[in-house]
Amino acid sequence: MKKITLPYHSVLSRPTFVYGVATSSFQIEGDIAGREPCIWDTFCEQPNTIKDNSNGDTACDHIHRWQDDVDLICELGVDAYRFSIAWGRVIKANGEINHTGLNFYIKLVEALTKRGVQSHVTLYHWDLPQYLEDKGGWLNRETAYRFADYAGVVADALGSKVSSIATLNEPFCSAYLGYEAGIHAPGPQPHAGSRRKQGRQAAHHLLLAHGLALQLLRQRLSGQNAPQLGVVLNFSPCHPLTDSTADREAAEFAHQYHNLWYLQPMLTGTYPHIHNQLASADRPSIEPGDMDIINQPLDFLGVNYYTRTVFKANEQHGFSDVPATGDGLTTMGWEVYAQGLTEILLTLDRQFDNLPPIYITENGVATDDVCDKNEVNDVMRVDYFQSHLLAVHDAIEQGVDIRGYFAWSLMDNFEWAEGYTQRFGIVYVDYATQRRTLKNSAKALQQLFLARQSQH
Ligand code: NOJ
Repeated sequence: MKKITLPYHSVLSRPTFVYGVATSSFQIEGDIAGREPCIWDTFCEQPNTIKDNSNGDTACDHIHRWQDDVDLICELGVDAYRFSIAWGRVIKANGEINHTGLNFYIKLVEALTKRGVQSHVTLYHWDLPQYLEDKGGWLNRETAYRFADYAGVVADALGSKVSSIATLNEPFCSAYLGYEAGIHAPGPQPHAGSRRKQGRQAAHHLLLAHGLALQLLRQRLSGQNAPQLGVVLNFSPCHPLTDSTADREAAEFAHQYHNLWYLQPMLTGTYPHIHNQLASADRPSIEPGDMDIINQPLDFLGVNYYTRTVFKANEQHGFSDVPATGDGLTTMGWEVYAQGLTEILLTLDRQFDNLPPIYITENGVATDDVCDKNEVNDVMRVDYFQSHLLAVHDAIEQGVDIRGYFAWSLMDNFEWAEGYTQRFGIVYVDYATQRRTLKNSAKALQQLFLARQSQH
């Protein structure tokens, strides 16, 4: 069996470097009876949205199997578990707290703590309650204020028990894929302006939600047991298809549009330059004071990384992406491009003086896994982790402050528009029986984690 090895004396081998696995609520929980419906439940009901016509009704049935899943997490030897809270499991449509739902997360955190595993919580991993979507969702400014209310409830119940709280996960996906590209929930809305306007407006309200929640969390959670407060963003280096000026400009435009659009306002209170290049009808409506609210100090930045993206010029939209080709693509059709992780980390580090410490909050790969006699030989995933851990090592060597690494994902789960056709887990899930089997990649990571523990 293939192993993962780290460079001799790497920071990545120190006991202070945090290793974990990650999941999200809608992708694993199931049990829709125990929560309010969310935009993904609705989206899954629409024709031609999900590749295998599936939904999140059962997913990995984690709500009923969470204790076994905690055993699994502990067996891996990780320091930390990153998961998200389903907003609609905690706050009912009438605004009251759903105590049964909230207790689920309290018990989960307590069980992890008892076993010495840190909890890293994400408040919003795309499952907006449908009752808020019915009032306009992220196109409605009010949603940002409701998010802050919800954040306050979680802070009171869990704030002192968890290691970190991230406001949002990948707002790019909620805003761009959800409202602009239309391949994620809720899809573009009729009578709400151009798709570009909708995407930019949703992004602005997500950023506002982040700022409002962070202000409130900071007030309520201080002192010794206060968790670290931050956000999780996805980044992909944007490369030009050719060396032509037009393609290079397109790649730069895409970098600002996809990568910097979220981070820059948070760190500096300003949108990237291309904001001014957008047609005025496509720009988000911004109220006085919004940018200051968005610009809150961050204790950490979560970076999710999977691949790079190649762009070419497109007169109408400024840029368009070019799908990857060639050998060795993942089942998502993504290129394996580990050096892109070092590259984007260095780019951000060089650009922002106030870049907070970084956790790699997601990194992983979907492959064609087959479970044969309780064995899944996912060599490609082992190689992927190996090369990307080395990329993290390289970034640290070049001065980037990186504190931890979370593999995506603990187990195979509902991969959004791809349904259950894509397997990102280090643990294989047989959906017919809900049986979990450690893939060889899980065993390789386990060896790495356990060897590190026994050293110290
Ligand atoms: C990022 C998202 O946060 C996660 O939900 C998704 O499963 C992975 N990317 C893989 O696409």
